Amino acid sequence: MKLNENYKNVEESYLFSLVATKVSQYTKQHPEADIIRLGIGDVTLPLPQPAVNAFLEGAAQQGKSESFHGYGPEQGYLFLREAVRDYYESFGVHIDTEDIFISDGAKSDVGNILDLFDKDNTVLIPDPVYPVYRDTNVMAGRDIRYLNANMENGFLPLPDPSQKADIIYICSPNNPTGAAYSREQLKAWVSYAKEQEAIILYDAAYEAFIQDPDLPRSIFEIEGADTCAIEFCSLSKTAGFTGTRCGYTVVPHTLEREGMSLRKMWLRRQTTKFNGVSYPVQKAAAAVFTPEGLKACREHIAVYRENTRIMAETLKRLGIWFVGGKNSPYIWLKCPFGMQSWEFFDFLLEKANIVGTPGSGFGKNGEGFFRLTGFGKNEDTQKAMDRLQNLL
Ligand code: MLT
Repeated sequence: MKLNENYKNVEESYLFSLVATKVSQYTKQHPEADIIRLGIGDVTLPLPQPAVNAFLEGAAQQGKSESFHGYGPEQGYLFLREAVRDYYESFGVHIDTEDIFISDGAKSDVGNILDLFDKDNTVLIPDPVYPVYRDTNVMAGRDIRYLNANMENGFLPLPDPSQKADIIYICSPNNPTGAAYSREQLKAWVSYAKEQEAIILYDAAYEAFIQDPDLPRSIFEIEGADTCAIEFCSLSKTAGFTGTRCGYTVVPHTLEREGMSLRKMWLRRQTTKFNGVSYPVQKAAAAVFTPEGLKACREHIAVYRENTRIMAETLKRLGIWFVGGKNSPYIWLKCPFGMQSWEFFDFLLEKANIVGTPGSGFGKNGEGFFRLTGFGKNEDTQKAMDRLQNLL
């Protein structure tokens, strides 16, 4: 019996579990502390009302024999795939319903998609990065090349034509930095992927936060991406589904390599290993894409945007360098006084009872940086920024 020894090469805990453990140790020692959590990107507003109504209706249907649903289609109910297709259509992207796969969130699919690829592929991952891309490849023993994201390139690295790559990860608007690629920059990535015959794994989980109409919300806004990209998206941040779980992955039928269709492979993988998302959750998700649902989501996002505005104003006043916040719920800042990321984490936790995420947890280029989220409550965010201002 042999275990997967690659697990020896990942950190003992997942970044956000480590942060949670540290915070819980601190609160045990300081039960009186009024902790403000701006660490993990978890929403604080409840589900939008149209989603709640549809969720309840779906649950009630499950309780009556005439409307009961057993196993659903592994790829997701057509009513939801059509709603997702129409959503893409609203910003000018045509996607076939057959290419849309409903999931329990982007994180699972981003990890599971690796079932489709050989172990010997070269993976290109920006650093800093959402740790799931890195950790899932380390677990599979794959060779990873890192791409430097830094202050010089505004944390938006562009392809280096001399760098070989088979699988490329892009997240825009980016987690953790909040920076978002322009259309021209994404065109450069698509043309590089085509030259390399590589596949882009595009994480669009934060697309709903894009305010600038010139910024692309989907990789499929770029011509030719349907032959070199897979897109992952989620309702977690768009519609507060972090605890309800629903997302979608688009694998275009035009995406082929070595005579194999990746869409067919993913369908085969999902029908074998996944039994779909529950019927009431899919009902709730479909309600998100109705005019009332989208309006309610926009109102929630406006609340989170107000938080990033408050944070950005405070950082500007304090003369602290940062990026993000404008088209993203994340603000990525340079730790003051030349502090290291975990040093600043401890400092903020102890001196101001604020929890953030240390940049170094997202990669070596994140050292000396720190991530704050706009997903807190308005009054908590304001209080946290008042404390930060007093502290610094
Ligand atoms: C984060 O804080 O980076 C997110 O919560 C991660 C996720 O969506 O899994």
